[in-house]
Amino acid sequence: MKRRDFIKTGCLACAAMAAGSSLASLQSCSPMPVYKATVDQHQIIVPKTAFLEGETMKVVRSSATLYDILLVAKPNEEPRALLMSCTHFSNALVPNTNGLNCNLHGSQFDLQGAVINGPASKALKKFTVSTNEQNYLINLKNN
Ligand code: FES
Repeated sequence: MKRRDFIKTGCLACAAMAAGSSLASLQSCSPMPVYKATVDQHQIIVPKTAFLEGETMKVVRSSATLYDILLVAKPNEEPRALLMSCTHFSNALVPNTNGLNCNLHGSQFDLQGAVINGPASKALKKFTVSTNEQNYLINLKNN
């Protein structure tokens, strides 16, 4: 193989690998879709139809809270809602399929809101969630 061909082939292989790894890292950190909810008398209303087939979590944004809320609605579990604010220094949390991470100092929380890794030492704020036929109702009072 001539030197020129070797360099050309090598560069193409490197470019393909770089593109592949960039795409993989983008997919792994792709944000969870946000549902913009309405608020009615101390309740955030999230229609059950906002969840796509097989989806068990939804980031909920509303005018009622400063931070987004992670609504977890898994089959055979009580639905729950977690305020996505780190209990260490109130940084916005990033959800993933296993929990929530804080990018500021590295705290991690599970999907029950408990601390997995500090420096945060306090569990996430939770809201009770009730349901009716069509909706999840995140209760902002009595929490
Ligand atoms: S603000 Fe989240 S770990 Fe410090």
